[in-house]
Amino acid sequence: MAESSAAVRVLLLNGPNLNLLGSRDPQQYGTVTLEGIERRVRALGAELGAEVECAQSNHEGVLVEHVHRARELDGVVFNPGAFAHYSIALRDAIDAVETPCVEVHISNVYAREPFRHTSVTAPVVQGYIAGCGPTGYELGLRAVLARVQERRSAAG
Ligand code: DQA
Repeated sequence: MAESSAAVRVLLLNGPNLNLLGSRDPQQYGTVTLEGIERRVRALGAELGAEVECAQSNHEGVLVEHVHRARELDGVVFNPGAFAHYSIALRDAIDAVETPCVEVHISNVYAREPFRHTSVTAPVVQGYIAGCGPTGYELGLRAVLARVQERRSAAG
């Protein structure tokens, strides 16, 4: 992690099919586009003194590489999409990287099909937000920044 006076840098990472937000199943995911969400989270970051970088991929390996890259950053807000339910590779990547990661799901996965009730990534993240709609990403940013603050205070 960067020194305590250095700018805080957070990665907002989205997994498969989340590029379709806005038109994909609005009952579950609302009508805000991914671009709209990224704009909101960047704006909140600017307000809170954090620089937010955004990335989305439909490919597991690319997401793994983004998580690895987060070693140079201070925090990650990550919606792994369906990969949360079965990707051991993503779980291991998050576990291998010390950078705090908060998992976000737009929908309440526990009110949906049973296969969505399992998250293999949840045990290795610092926090978990589900069912708050697109606002969950802003809550995720606040949560990850609180972790960054704790880590910086502990590091002196
Ligand atoms: C999701 C929930 C997942 O089950 C689903 O596969 C997604 C979106 C959410 O944000 O609610 O792609 O991660």
